[in-house]
Amino acid sequence: MNIEELIPENIRILKPYVAGKTIAEVMEMYKPDKISKLASNENRLGFSPLVRNAITDIMDNLQDYPDPVSHKLRKKLAHFHGVKNEEILIAAGSESLISVICRTFFKEKEYAITADATFVGFFVQAGVRGIQVEKIPITKDFKFDVPGILQAVKKGVKIVYIANPNNPTGTYITKPEFEYLINHIPEDVLLIADEAYYEYAKDVEDYPRALENRKKNVIILRTFSKAYGLAGLRVGYGIAHRDLITQMSKTRLTFEPTTFAQAAAFAALDDTEFIEKSVKRVREGREKLYSFFDAHNVQYVKSICNSVLMVCNDSETAAKFTQSMLVQGVILRRVQAFGLPNCIRITIGTEEEMKHFEKSFLNITEEIYS
Ligand SMILES: Cc1ncc(COP(=O)(O)O)c(C=O)c1O
Repeated sequence: MNIEELIPENIRILKPYVAGKTIAEVMEMYKPDKISKLASNENRLGFSPLVRNAITDIMDNLQDYPDPVSHKLRKKLAHFHGVKNEEILIAAGSESLISVICRTFFKEKEYAITADATFVGFFVQAGVRGIQVEKIPITKDFKFDVPGILQAVKKGVKIVYIANPNNPTGTYITKPEFEYLINHIPEDVLLIADEAYYEYAKDVEDYPRALENRKKNVIILRTFSKAYGLAGLRVGYGIAHRDLITQMSKTRLTFEPTTFAQAAAFAALDDTEFIEKSVKRVREGREKLYSFFDAHNVQYVKSICNSVLMVCNDSETAAKFTQSMLVQGVILRRVQAFGLPNCIRITIGTEEEMKHFEKSFLNITEEIYS
């Protein structure tokens, strides 16, 4: 039996997702003195202490399935955002919701539009369903090209996906750009506004909060994986018109997210102080990294989220730099799968981690650039 022949073409051509290296893997491979994991845009300050208590409290109920609708969490989120319960769908991370969207809305031959450099999870989930994605080149300043995207919208387009702020660039669509997009996109095209980094972006002056610009064809995605620091638990949610949520509810997996994830997210929402501290740390860390890069003539892209994109001259340099940093114990993320082979994404870590980054950078740059 030839297994390849059993597999549909769209799955056969998919490249397996290569995640960033784990701390354990790097420790085993290179045995560095210390490790700074700056690869996956997690919150390096950890998570709210309220979460630990919430999880301990439910330890005795592991034999029971999770609440399939996450009633308690949904009600709290609805209150938090001033929307109705029926306008929220909770799942195991926003990537799971992207998968739900790809499973729910596409009819035969319908396709999606996004940028050529954006969250790889969207490319993967679309690929799994055999959905074509038209990728519109990002602008010279690494932004979504809103007019370019709108121009590309024609018959057959079902979804326009934007990540705002975008991963891996850290750039964003401004308020006027977002309003233009939302006012010109046809009503029968769904606009996915993935706001995974919302907490870092929300106070930027011209950042458009999609929730304040809602229309019937807009689906907003949020996650607890980033500023809330709960990536390991897998919990995210979508906010949309109740009729869209009803349809999406049919294709989601029944028991997502886990009981732990529901309880943790419920508790985490109360700790605004932790979010403020995390956002402040990222803001300060970004500024410091910009100054460091300026001092060493490194090209980078200014960001409003918890990572900064470093731009190398070519993909070989990007590969060499990432690998040499790994040996020093600094885990970074090359973003060729996101569409940017010359670039490296650096998550803003703690002060100590960023010092480790700088020291390692200085140790290796002569080797790379000489
Ligand atoms: C833009 C964007 N959307 C979604 C996700 C996935 O988040 P989650 O952990 O909620 O699945 C990420 C994670 O990197 C992201 O950057």
